[in-house]
Amino acid sequence: MIIAIDGPAAAGKGTLARRLADHFGFAYLDTGSLYRAVGLAVLRANKSPDDIEAANQAAAKLDTSLFGDPALRAEVTGNAASKVAAIPSVRTNLLEFQRNFSDRPPGGKKGAVLDGRDVGTVVCPGADLKLFVTASPEVRAERRQLEILGRGEAAEFEEILADVRARDERDMNRKDAPLKPAEDALLLDTSELDIDAVFLRAVALVEERL
Ligand code: C5P
Repeated sequence: MIIAIDGPAAAGKGTLARRLADHFGFAYLDTGSLYRAVGLAVLRANKSPDDIEAANQAAAKLDTSLFGDPALRAEVTGNAASKVAAIPSVRTNLLEFQRNFSDRPPGGKKGAVLDGRDVGTVVCPGADLKLFVTASPEVRAERRQLEILGRGEAAEFEEILADVRARDERDMNRKDAPLKPAEDALLLDTSELDIDAVFLRAVALVEERL
């Protein structure tokens, strides 16, 4: 059983994916972490995330130890991730890791939940259930602001909203694997629904398919 959850930044897909994986005992992969790890490696090498060669190098030898690095979650890393993610050869390099995960979920789990931007369209086009989780840019910026404030960092709403819009723009308009719902994806708008309601809806959809 493969569940693909896509959507824009801060739509709540990570929380939903993690909860579904816990509930059904499936393995979980946050595919954004891979792009973030590449972005972070490039920044740490003092290179620009627009530097194709530097990004390719980081993607070719993906440093999975960065998954646990607190800097992975920083806004600057998210922005760098969305820049390296627009480079086709970076995407190709990261595809194998994601497919291995969905084909053979670690720990012998009988299912996998993957979240990202192109899981339903490119990584797992044959997924059993595809969800596209979205919310208005304002709602997403507000959630991101709360998350950043919760970490004790400063967070200006207008600045975050501008970042969210810039990231949407880049993710939706890139040539390779742009952010868009798969034709057979079910849309869940979390602007008005709270996370528990979204979770219950998703659980029912998975159970229908099990
Ligand atoms: O989801 P998260 O904010 O961690 O993703 C960081 C960036 O990685 C996104 O803005 C997007 O550009 C890229 N990404 C992607 N494809 C995925 C997951 C993430 O292009 N499947």
